[in-house]
Amino acid sequence: ALERTFSIIKPDATKRNLTGAIAAKFEEAGLRIVASKRIQLTLAQAQAFYGVHKDRPFFGELTEFMISEPIVVQVLEGENAIAKNREVMGATNPAEAAEGTIRKEYALSIGENSVHGSDAPETAAEEIAFFFSGLELVG
Ligand code: CMP
Repeated sequence: ALERTFSIIKPDATKRNLTGAIAAKFEEAGLRIVASKRIQLTLAQAQAFYGVHKDRPFFGELTEFMISEPIVVQVLEGENAIAKNREVMGATNPAEAAEGTIRKEYALSIGENSVHGSDAPETAAEEIAFFFSGLELVG
């Protein structure tokens, strides 16, 4: 089915000037970037976005990292966009990511792993709504 998913190009990637290279990977996979903006999160925003992880030992490290530099938030649209995006990203831990994936090519560590992508339709809808208004989604 035609789906939308939510993506973040993380601080380690924007800092190394990889925004275009990563966006190209999405487009090459047939994902259409239907919304995109570069922002820098406040700590409160990062904590709210990653609220499901608040009891994890890496929550402090994760939220501090996510506010350390600008990020690029995007909405990707395509057939099976959620699964397709996860395939293009590769495994969370770059040491386990398949050849040719974004995380294999660019990620530095499990924390500084260059991209975030929604894991299911419900989270995709929530994450898109967290960052974008309907007016900003131009299919
Ligand atoms: P993401 O898809 O953005 O969602 C939660 C993030 O937590 C995940 O990607 C990882 O980058 C990060 N994460 C997971 N495990 C660890 C860990 N052990 N140490 C630091 N960050 C982690």
